[in-house]
Amino acid sequence: MLTGINSNAKYASTMMCMDGMSEPSLEDGSGVYLGRTKVYRTPFFLNVHKLLNPHIAVLGMSGAGKTYFLKSLIARNVLCCNTKVLVLDWNGEYGNVVSFLGGAVADSTAAETSFEAIASDSVSSIDLSALKSDTERKRTAARLLDMLIDDMHRMRLEKDLGRIVVLDEAWRFIESAGDIGALFREGRKYGIGIVTATQLTSDVNKEVLSNAACTVLFRLQNSADYAFLLDIGMIGECEKRSILQLHQGSCMLSMATRETREHMRFFIERIEGIDTRVYGIRCDAMHLKIAGVDFQKITERHFAGSDVWQKIENYAGSKDRELEATAFVRFLLGIGLHRQDIVPYLRALGTSDVTIAEVYERAVQ
Ligand SMILES: Nc1ncnc2c1ncn2[C@@H]1O[C@H](COP(=O)(O)OP(=O)(O)OP(=O)(O)O)[C@@H](O)[C@H]1O
Ligand SMILES: [Mg+2]
Repeated sequence: MLTGINSNAKYASTMMCMDGMSEPSLEDGSGVYLGRTKVYRTPFFLNVHKLLNPHIAVLGMSGAGKTYFLKSLIARNVLCCNTKVLVLDWNGEYGNVVSFLGGAVADSTAAETSFEAIASDSVSSIDLSALKSDTERKRTAARLLDMLIDDMHRMRLEKDLGRIVVLDEAWRFIESAGDIGALFREGRKYGIGIVTATQLTSDVNKEVLSNAACTVLFRLQNSADYAFLLDIGMIGECEKRSILQLHQGSCMLSMATRETREHMRFFIERIEGIDTRVYGIRCDAMHLKIAGVDFQKITERHFAGSDVWQKIENYAGSKDRELEATAFVRFLLGIGLHRQDIVPYLRALGTSDVTIAEVYERAVQ
């Protein structure tokens, strides 16, 4: 079953590597934006729906950027492509992004009874981190995967990708699952894409890698990991040299689409995340919630060419992003802004004129 990998080896010898300073061109700009390519700095889009199969394997050493990549992939797929996402969250790292996307975060005890409901949400995660021991987590993970497989078998066969299941720290799931291979082999028939991320390549069973039409390689831990990938033909010496030079957040992405069938390789300079921060502005009964991206955009539009956003971001950070309106206005006055700047700014942030008047009066008292 390693034909998928071995056929890439041929391609590896003729395909780009950073030493050669060339990269394949990707005419198709559909899919989700992940960052810019290393050589020509072209925007890179990954269209999960167009992959030869819907599975993605992410490999890399600790701290290389796997989880960061997965969060960006999840958020952009939910926001831009209406793809359903279920995350089995081993370390409790996905709550923020799932909540930001309007999804439900279930703890592992709730998950036992209402798995079907959880999994049918547009985006949801099951947080395993509260379970005390690794053994307990493994047992629960195995049960969840069995439920997922049963659930899958009850679904209609589906040609198009409808759902992505994310298994970060995949080696732990693989260790505990009875037959994770079934998810890969059969998932595509039911329109389910499995996205795995793991540190230790030798722990990822080869079936997982050979079934993933897209692999994302971050810097690897040690020479054994490189040797493993060289051995199965996933990379050549040239790629190995380039991967050894990758810094945190940059990766090599290799993918085969239904059109090309052959693997194309891209080095991405830095995976670009999405800002999932949410800020609150509070005054008496008013409690505004504003997404970080919008807060920044509005601030920069009002105070173009200044460092006001930087100062507000620092100030808000020190308040855990929950701003008391009067204190916030005092802060704005303190950094040299005037009433004629502050009033239209607060209005643009969504504060009513009555509240602005009250808050301003209190702030200058
Ligand atoms: N593309 C990036 N841009 C900005 N920061 C990044 C990027 N990638 C990773 N980071 C930062 O680097 C740190 C480690 O990243 P991350 O948690 O994704 O690593 P990991 O590969 O999942 O590690 P582990 O295997 O230990 O879980 C985090 O603080 C993350 O915010
Ligand atoms: Mg991680």
